[in-house]
Amino acid sequence: MTDAPTRPPVRQSLVTCATPDEMSAWSRAARARSERIAFVPTMGALHDGHVALLREGRRRGDRLALSIFVNPTQFGPSEDLGRYPRDLPGDLARASDAGVDVVFLPDRAAMYPPGHQTTVQVQELASGMCGAGRPGHFVGVATVVCKLFNIVQPEVAIFGEKDFQQLALIRRMVRDLNMPIEIVGLPTVREPDGLALSSRNRFLSSDDRTRAVSISRALFAARARFESGERDAARLTSDVRGALEGAVDRVEYVELRDAQDLRPLDAVDRPAVIAVAVHVGGTRLIDNVRFG
Ligand code: PAJ
Repeated sequence: MTDAPTRPPVRQSLVTCATPDEMSAWSRAARARSERIAFVPTMGALHDGHVALLREGRRRGDRLALSIFVNPTQFGPSEDLGRYPRDLPGDLARASDAGVDVVFLPDRAAMYPPGHQTTVQVQELASGMCGAGRPGHFVGVATVVCKLFNIVQPEVAIFGEKDFQQLALIRRMVRDLNMPIEIVGLPTVREPDGLALSSRNRFLSSDDRTRAVSISRALFAARARFESGERDAARLTSDVRGALEGAVDRVEYVELRDAQDLRPLDAVDRPAVIAVAVHVGGTRLIDNVRFG
């Protein structure tokens, strides 16, 4: 009897590219065959949230490209770049299962060769919320996503609403810089108890994990208050802050914003989002809910 593998082997057709030139050549060939390329950029350690984006990409494109690159320029000097989770074998197996055709896996030198000095800055959208606590973060994000778009040349790219500010900023960048790419945003995938899936959840101790449930619970409670008639932004956010302060180690921000342009709102008179960033143990977590 032979040992049955526990996972199906990586499909023969899963191509990996390590350099921008290889990746662009693959894309040029696909485009020459009039194939529509869907693209999901990630930093790896793939979970079911990423897989939901890949499944959507599979539906929307003839070819599905995934990038895995832990982008150093979006991490601050005291942040977790060095310990950001990495799991290439697991990622390739998940990619294969989700029907990915090509994985772009550049290293730092391939993306930022010596002399690299051009950045992309989305102004206002990057200024508050995560931008306030992570100076330079969104310049790193916008620059790497712009580079990835130029390398992969997709027709459509899929992002998660989990990173709500990031998604708004990418939509703005694509409009402002006339990039011919459709941006699709997908709802946050959660654990059964409500915790938003995140590559960083694996850093949570069991006590942290228990406390982290308060994040989605506080956000869902605010949405329920909105649904029963509360429209005052200060009351909605102070409820969320109060619930979080009893449970997590630090509340970085609780913001109620316009869901389209992220302008602060005093009253919820249009589609809105409440977004939070908190610290649990040594781990920074973000989440949000939309309503209105
Ligand atoms: P990463 O954190 O790996 O996330 C990749 C994509 O997965 C993002 O669009 C993110 O919003 C989405 N995602 C993460 N958790 C999710 C969840 N629980 N449900 C649905 N989607 C989820 O975001 C980045 O990487 C980077 O900033 C990147 C855009 C790749 C640029 O480096």
